[in-house]
Amino acid sequence: MSGHGEPIPMISQRGAPLTGEAHVPGDKSISHRSLILGALAVGETRVTGLLEGQDVLDTAAAMRAFGADVTREGDGTWSIHGVGTGGFGEPDKVIDCGNSGTGVRLIMGAMATSPIAATFTGDASLCSRPMGRVTDPLSLFGTRAVGRTGGRLPMTLVGAADPVPVRYTLPVPSAQVKSAILLAGLNAPGETVVIEPEPTRDHTERMLAGFGATVTSEAGPEGRVITLKGQPELRPQTIVVPRDPSSAAFPVCAALIAEGSDVLVPNIGLNPTRAGLYATLREMGADLTFENEREEGGEPVADLRARFSPAMTGVEVPPERAASMIDEYPVLSVVAAFATGPTVMRGVKELRVKESDRIDAMAAGLRAAGVEVEEGPDWWIVHGRGMGGVRGGAAVASRLDHRIAMSFLVMGLATQRPMRVDDGGPIATSFPVFEPLMTGLGAAIGREMAEA
Ligand code: S3P
Repeated sequence: MSGHGEPIPMISQRGAPLTGEAHVPGDKSISHRSLILGALAVGETRVTGLLEGQDVLDTAAAMRAFGADVTREGDGTWSIHGVGTGGFGEPDKVIDCGNSGTGVRLIMGAMATSPIAATFTGDASLCSRPMGRVTDPLSLFGTRAVGRTGGRLPMTLVGAADPVPVRYTLPVPSAQVKSAILLAGLNAPGETVVIEPEPTRDHTERMLAGFGATVTSEAGPEGRVITLKGQPELRPQTIVVPRDPSSAAFPVCAALIAEGSDVLVPNIGLNPTRAGLYATLREMGADLTFENEREEGGEPVADLRARFSPAMTGVEVPPERAASMIDEYPVLSVVAAFATGPTVMRGVKELRVKESDRIDAMAAGLRAAGVEVEEGPDWWIVHGRGMGGVRGGAAVASRLDHRIAMSFLVMGLATQRPMRVDDGGPIATSFPVFEPLMTGLGAAIGREMAEA
């Protein structure tokens, strides 16, 4: 839904060690894809562990608007009766994707090769983000798009009545763009090919194969070549959504910096296209172990154990790792502030077009808390002050960005003075139980009463 209610000012401060188990919600990327692919299959898809954050709920509403029957049962299982590839009907209202870039871009792809029109909008954050990266390749199928200047929402797409298959090399490392093209390719004849010079999260490919599509992924000289055979009949699936490694990052990083902590975060999906943060933290000297490593539903899964790590050092994060931890740079920059020496992050231009400009948002808050940050168009360096050496005491803006809000609330658990965030409301888009989960571990995180 566009916008949200009154701002929710929040505060965090040093306190007791964090201990216990943190059961984080389902994976956001897989949750969106479960609903969309379920809507494109013929028959009933059943999903457990779906993330019931606002982003995903907005995608569920969108799937209903395109004609799928999407319901939540009493035990939390979601049931989706799909309409089949090419079966989307024309929505009779505007599709509001709220804060979700993944939602809007994947849904645009899913409708782009059906002979229907749809108008998309979102909140102020989403309406400021670039959509040309999706509508440019979709135009190759024959889809037409008219939006605001600069390719921004609100935007109307008219699907191709007679789509042709597409071969496209991604100009930016984006799983959202890749996925939009593959979903559009489902209803085009022949083979749609996406070439990605840098590998990005591969949930769409894995799940398409699970739903019965013929999709191959091979390493070629220009990168990964993903080929989809068009017009399959997708078979409904029973999906168990793994827990989200991007949400797990918050209790894990909190435990690393809050004195005396020892936290277990069970059942985390560790698909290699998502697990870059954890490799980086280990390189910094974090006391982070993977327990009970196993495979579930074709994805690697482990229980993460994170303990207070007072002697972490800054590192240079390899740029080729960026895509596998793109959502985790904000919270990594927080950990970096408590390490000794600089943490250098290059090849991260994409951070500037997320829910907010995440380099700018984090640099502003870190500086206000007494941490030196250098930045350029596609790089930034956080100069760590060592454990105990960060002043804090800043009031920061979350800029309609859930990960900015959560990162600074984690930071306040180890700064000398409390950290304040102007609005924790956006946290509900991806991690609605963040506050009770963190306070359940013992974290001093809470809401501030508005001044009378
Ligand atoms: C996502 C892909 C990433 C990520 C987003 C989720 C996805 O965006 O930042 O949170 O589910 O495909 P880009 O693909 O644009 O990098």
